[in-house]
Amino acid sequence: MNAVTEAVSLSNNVDMTNFWMPFTGNRQFKAAPRILKSAKDMHFTTMDGQKVLDASAGLWCVNAGHGRTEIIEAVHKQMQELDYAPPFQMAHPLAFEAAKVVAGVMPKGLDRIFFANSGSEAVDTALKMALAYHRARGEGQRTRLIGRERGYSGVGFGGISVGGIVANRKAYSANLIPGVDHLPHTHSIPDMGFSKGQPQWGMHLADHLEALCALHDASTIAAVIVEPVAGSTGVLVPPVGYLQRLRELCSKHGILLIFDEVITGFGRLGKATASEFFGVTPDMITMAKAINNASIPMSAVAANTQIYDAIINASPANAIEMFHGYTYSSHPAAAAACLATQEIYKREKLFDRSLGLAPKFEKAIHALRGEPYVKDIRNLGLMGAVELESRAGAPGARAYDVFLKCLEMGVLVRYTGDSLAFSPPLIVSEDQIDEIFNTVKKAIHMVA
Ligand SMILES: Cc1ncc(COP(=O)(O)O)c(C=O)c1O
Repeated sequence: MNAVTEAVSLSNNVDMTNFWMPFTGNRQFKAAPRILKSAKDMHFTTMDGQKVLDASAGLWCVNAGHGRTEIIEAVHKQMQELDYAPPFQMAHPLAFEAAKVVAGVMPKGLDRIFFANSGSEAVDTALKMALAYHRARGEGQRTRLIGRERGYSGVGFGGISVGGIVANRKAYSANLIPGVDHLPHTHSIPDMGFSKGQPQWGMHLADHLEALCALHDASTIAAVIVEPVAGSTGVLVPPVGYLQRLRELCSKHGILLIFDEVITGFGRLGKATASEFFGVTPDMITMAKAINNASIPMSAVAANTQIYDAIINASPANAIEMFHGYTYSSHPAAAAACLATQEIYKREKLFDRSLGLAPKFEKAIHALRGEPYVKDIRNLGLMGAVELESRAGAPGARAYDVFLKCLEMGVLVRYTGDSLAFSPPLIVSEDQIDEIFNTVKKAIHMVA
């Protein structure tokens, strides 16, 4: 019996009415649910005991693999000792320790760490910091935020405003935050189709920032936020020189550059950050997901010392300097999980492992070129996407069918539009990389 069939029978026992599922077709899912029961290392197990190879690290987040004993034990111990501590005007030791360890793997200078709980919150925090920074320096007229088409920066009002995914914006369009503009996205199949790693074409697209500076006047722009590699719209790899050019232009115009590294942070490209991988240092980095192997909700913003100093020193010594924070900022259990996770990354050299596996991953994903419907293939580090031709009038339907077939054959992939996305845990083996793409190949042949 396959996972889908078993899960349907589960629905006889479990009332699925009340759970309003996120980013899911609720009616479609509840008619044929896919239920996971447990997970260990590279595999999930479904309700009927079918093992499913995790080709997407959950949602790009379980970088050290599932069910890591060290993390579980650290959380358990912490919960017995101190289950919660208020983070406003009070603190606990692991908050400081986790901040130190995270700062230790960020690019030099980005050493002030503000904790939140989700990528969306980290993004909104960073946008607020950008505004507060300029205001503190007497440049309060810098209020404009620049995002990018096809960008995903979470689902807060800040994130969807700077984000560039139409479906996430349209229902709320009248209420998006004002004073936002967007850079063009960097993807063009005719110019860069089937690129291995970074495309050669497209650096000039960063120059659009000059046009926005000319249009709005640079002195009104607070920050530019981009994902170094756009993940959620199907792994859009930045053209050679593009991020360097954005950095140059932001520095030239006094604009802060924020890298949203919620996906690329912690080894996805073979380094602690994409910033380190590309050799481009932004002013802030947002991170979440793999910060603690996704075991407990946690995210953070790493800000450079100048931003911290400007905001902190703008207030009297006994004042709260930034009116922002969350009840669960630096939650003890999340902080314990973060420390245990970072220790695993270091001890097992998982970022180096990811770097070492990237050529194998590239070869395996590009072997799908020429298979039916395959329109483009893109990759960098241990992330990649295979874009399929859309069915007439039914965008996303073909990739959804491939996703279902893969699941039936025991491999969990992600799909977004008609792109299949891959981002296995960094502990994946070479044989498992072959298993992923051999399964996808079979699945593509099974769908119309
Ligand atoms: C680049 C990026 N930013 C922000 C987010 C939002 O994170 P969360 O879902 O934890 O709010 C995501 C989620 O995938 C992401 O990929």
